[in-house]
Amino acid sequence: MEYEELNRTGVRIPKLGLGTYGMDSARREEALAALRRGIELGMTLIDTAEMYGWGRVEEIVGEAIRPFDREELTIVTKVWGTNLGYESVKRAARASAARLGTYIDVYLIHWPNPSFPLEETLRAMEELVSEGTIRYVGVSNFTLDQLKRAREIMRHNDVVTDQVEYSLVVREPEEDLLPYCQRERITLMAYSPLAKGKLAKRPPMKLKLVAARLGKTPAQVALNWLVSKPMVVAIPKASKVDHVEELAGSVGWRIPDDLMRELDDIRGERARWPRT
Ligand SMILES: NC(=O)c1ccc[n+]([C@@H]2O[C@H](COP(=O)([O-])OP(=O)(O)OC[C@H]3O[C@@H](n4cnc5c(N)ncnc54)[C@H](OP(=O)(O)O)[C@@H]3O)[C@@H](O)[C@H]2O)c1
Repeated sequence: MEYEELNRTGVRIPKLGLGTYGMDSARREEALAALRRGIELGMTLIDTAEMYGWGRVEEIVGEAIRPFDREELTIVTKVWGTNLGYESVKRAARASAARLGTYIDVYLIHWPNPSFPLEETLRAMEELVSEGTIRYVGVSNFTLDQLKRAREIMRHNDVVTDQVEYSLVVREPEEDLLPYCQRERITLMAYSPLAKGKLAKRPPMKLKLVAARLGKTPAQVALNWLVSKPMVVAIPKASKVDHVEELAGSVGWRIPDDLMRELDDIRGERARWPRT
């Protein structure tokens, strides 16, 4: 596994973590096996949310992590956009921690919601840090301006991560968010890094050709391309053990510069990819 420091916290997180969206509809045993295999393979960063199966996925994560050394894991969960009031954030975090059976390493605002003053949400989150329910504060789906504002509001903590959609075919973060995060050493957590499975199951021709030249699979190349960037970590979701094993092979090697440039060009094919 390859690692990156989470923001400037001194906490070491793997470049590849495990997503969990939709794991409540997969078979529970299958999901547990996939998560545990991923952790064994070093994918010790686990991303979930109170919204996933309305708590059911956090319970699955709680069960999956039980056999492991808690200090080796980084658990990320998120507060939903209707729970951003001062009291609701606190209630939501404590409920998530109870379902997970442990403290939360990184607690994210899942989506910005202008109906709630950000000051109030972040004040509650800073108090959750002080009481030990969560260790770090993060955001998700925040634009650069929203991220900057959140950083200005907080008194005692920094925003350690912005979790946004980023993959070979969704490149918006490169416009301004990624350069800023790299400069400020804020972790950019790439969600849907396989474009919701499309890059693994129906890869664009250029990706297929590069993968064949490297002797890797398209999914491995797509993830390697992402996490080779400083401050970027990816949280692909795989609910099958063989998928997890394939994804774990995405790191530990480098794509040569000429092939990197070919992959960068896939951006031009984006119009042919409906975003579902
Ligand atoms: N913050 C947010 O708003 C937000 C939004 C979306 C997602 N997320 C997080 O990011 C995580 C990942 O994103 P995502 O789930 O949308 O999409 P993704 O990780 O891009 O793709 C997941 C899909 O890829 C398939 N897959 C994985 N490995 C494969 C392999 N080796 N071969 C073939 N197929 C493979 C999975 O199938 P199987 O399950 O069958 O293995 C699943 O259908 C989510 O689970 C969630 O934790 C966050």
